[in-house]
Amino acid sequence: MRTQVAIIGSGPAGLLLGRLLELACVQSVILESRSRDYVLGRIRAGVLESGTVELLERAGVAKRLHEEALVHDSCGIAFAGGQLSIDLKGLTGKSVTVYGQTEVTHDLMNARAASGAPSVYEAEDVALHDFGGTSARVSYRHQGVAHEVACDFIAGCDGFHGVSRRSIPASALKIFERVYPFGWLGLLSDVPPPWHELIYANSDRGFALASLRSPTRVRCYVQCSLEDRVENWSDEQFWDEFRRRIGDEMAARVPNAPSIEKSIAPLRSFVAEPLRFGRLFLAGDAAHIVPPTGAKGLNLAASDVLYLYESLRSFYREKSERGLDEYSPRCLKRIWRAERFSWWMTSQLHRFPDDAFGRRMQETELEYLFESRAAQQSMAENYVGLPFEPMGGS
Ligand code: FAD
Ligand code: DHB
Repeated sequence: MRTQVAIIGSGPAGLLLGRLLELACVQSVILESRSRDYVLGRIRAGVLESGTVELLERAGVAKRLHEEALVHDSCGIAFAGGQLSIDLKGLTGKSVTVYGQTEVTHDLMNARAASGAPSVYEAEDVALHDFGGTSARVSYRHQGVAHEVACDFIAGCDGFHGVSRRSIPASALKIFERVYPFGWLGLLSDVPPPWHELIYANSDRGFALASLRSPTRVRCYVQCSLEDRVENWSDEQFWDEFRRRIGDEMAARVPNAPSIEKSIAPLRSFVAEPLRFGRLFLAGDAAHIVPPTGAKGLNLAASDVLYLYESLRSFYREKSERGLDEYSPRCLKRIWRAERFSWWMTSQLHRFPDDAFGRRMQETELEYLFESRAAQQSMAENYVGLPFEPMGGS
């Protein structure tokens, strides 16, 4: 088989890239190691920046989003018995949109299925070949049969544990990493949210986040130990702990509803530079990870994809390699800003072991945030999403 762009991974990055390329009449094949249902069953992000929503509109997959998503003009910070509402709209003119990653993935998968563009699910032993030169190929097995796709480019959209980044010689990548000494235990439940905005809470017992997916579904998180196991947390224990952390204003209204999903995610900051090696381009979690506290991972995947799409379109339309050459530095500017914000949110809101100085710094930082409009504006500007970098650096 031959195609123009072989896309590894059918998460939001791979699917969005495939869709944008399709609209620009560039062919692609998506190779995904898991089944469609497995990909759709993974509960992850919930908050979209306005730039991400605009990109989904541009991709022609935002109809259901506009019917069902919730637009939030503010978000809350709970700390030391108080609750601050950050007026995102008033401070930046922008809002965020609550719409699950699962729904985004669903909408993109449906659009791809309707167009007939090829995707292979449950592709085994995906391997990348000869992408340092001009004859890139991807091999895989499907239902016991070996296949190979020859292509102009490979887009590595296969997440943090994927094969793409690992296929690049280690000496060609510089890795920046911070692993945090805790994880997040998340719970999904079909119960109307008692909160009207997301609440990020710093408590003496650790971080908690009150989020939602719809007017009838909540998503909540508590900071947990890396040794914790989901099986060790009953729903009742989760809600008890959540109530102790989320702040007095909300605690009495927290439901005791049964979970429909519970999972634990570790927290990590990670960047691999550069995002290009020859004809292989990394995008999304394959190239970088942010701790989820800033709600940036999916949004960052979307901006990488926009830049890669623009670079490939300009290659095919104008025979220009300039966009491809600029891809990595263009991405890295926004990546590092999102890394900084996600690190800052994580540092200010979690309980770190044996760090009395750090605790005082958190108290001081959060008091300042509660009192200073300038500090709130800085947080709001980052939370709603920094602007995309134009191609050509102008
Ligand atoms: P992925 O979604 O990981 O997709 C990669 C795909 O590649 C997967 O389907 C995988 O099965 C496939 N794959 C892997 N290996 C191979 C292989 N060898 N061959 C073929 N296919 C392969 N982000 C936000 O913006 N806002 C939020 O509110 C937010 N909240 C989060 C909450 C939690 C608890 C977590 C864990 C993450 C959160 N994120 C959030 C981050 C966000 O979910 C990720 O950044 C996003 O999924 C990245 O998309 P991606 O397509 O790059 O990677
Ligand atoms: C959600 C996850 C996040 O990491 C975040 O910062 C906000 C919301 C969520 O899953 O709803």
